[in-house]
Amino acid sequence: MATKPTSFIARAPGRVNLIGDHTDYTGGLVLPMTIDRWTVIRGTRRPSGGDGRVSLVSADEPEPLRLDLPVADPATVEPHWGRYVAGVAAEMREPMAIEGHITTDIPVGAGLSSSAALELVAALALGFDGTPTELALLGQRAEQRASGVPCGIMDQLCIAAGVADHALLIDCHSLSVQPVSLPDGIEVVVRFVVHRTLAGSEYAERVEQCAIAEREIGPLRLATPDSVATIGDARIRRRARHVVTENGRVREFAAALADDDLNRAGELMAASHASLRDDYETSTAAMDVAVEQLMGTPGVYGARITGGGFGGCVVALAEPGAITDGWSVRAVDGASIMIDTEG
Ligand code: GLA
Repeated sequence: MATKPTSFIARAPGRVNLIGDHTDYTGGLVLPMTIDRWTVIRGTRRPSGGDGRVSLVSADEPEPLRLDLPVADPATVEPHWGRYVAGVAAEMREPMAIEGHITTDIPVGAGLSSSAALELVAALALGFDGTPTELALLGQRAEQRASGVPCGIMDQLCIAAGVADHALLIDCHSLSVQPVSLPDGIEVVVRFVVHRTLAGSEYAERVEQCAIAEREIGPLRLATPDSVATIGDARIRRRARHVVTENGRVREFAAALADDDLNRAGELMAASHASLRDDYETSTAAMDVAVEQLMGTPGVYGARITGGGFGGCVVALAEPGAITDGWSVRAVDGASIMIDTEG
């Protein structure tokens, strides 16, 4: 006898990274927070035994997703947005058959992790059962399979483990997550600058350059400025210097927030931007202009590019109301699902 379908509503927020970019894939430190924008799936599901169908309509996409389980190769699924859902289904042992409707207010291609939110909300809808860390690791594998981008764990772990009103200090080696409360009387503002995609960007090349540095001096998360200085190739040395100094800035930033030292926190954000611009070369002229403009605005403590780079958004820490052109964002709880047990 066929099981009755169960109704559910699953949702996952986006994220913005306050500091610690291009450190996660070397097991470094990051300090992101979730934002109060969500991707939501409303639908019904039933156990499939692994060979049912996923049927999803998105409010923002012309083409629906009709996916037969099991999924062989997520990277070839059409429409393109369905690859993230397919990646998740391919990574799950027995994904459920679902029918549903997706909405989102996370801008796509803006560096606010719309794809990670889609992966996590899809995993919950498809019946994922496990810890936030396991959910994040599943999402990361799905992203890598769907997009071919060798991304780190930051986005998925932030979205899985989010805590309202807190940023998260994440050690991407141990995967420990420490909520860091945001001081009263500050505003986190995100300003969109330009669309970007990490597939086809130099993201993978940066990951490879870090691997080259690690073959020369060992794990970058343990490296010192002195060991970085011994790297022979000047470009690889600059990339490693960014990672090592950025890990230090994340540590100091968390301490500055705990001490309510917002000026110091702002200086660290500015230094992080300079390092991504000069040593890591993942900023662009338009992003630099946006950061300079924000840094020159009265009441702004600090500003920087956020996320993978090559475009996207900048983030600023400011006195409330100081920035009029941007989204004021609030940290919210991580991805969750509500299941109608009566249904
Ligand atoms: C993207 C990736 C993350 C991380 C950032 C840069 O968002 O998905 O894993 O590497 O870029 O910090």
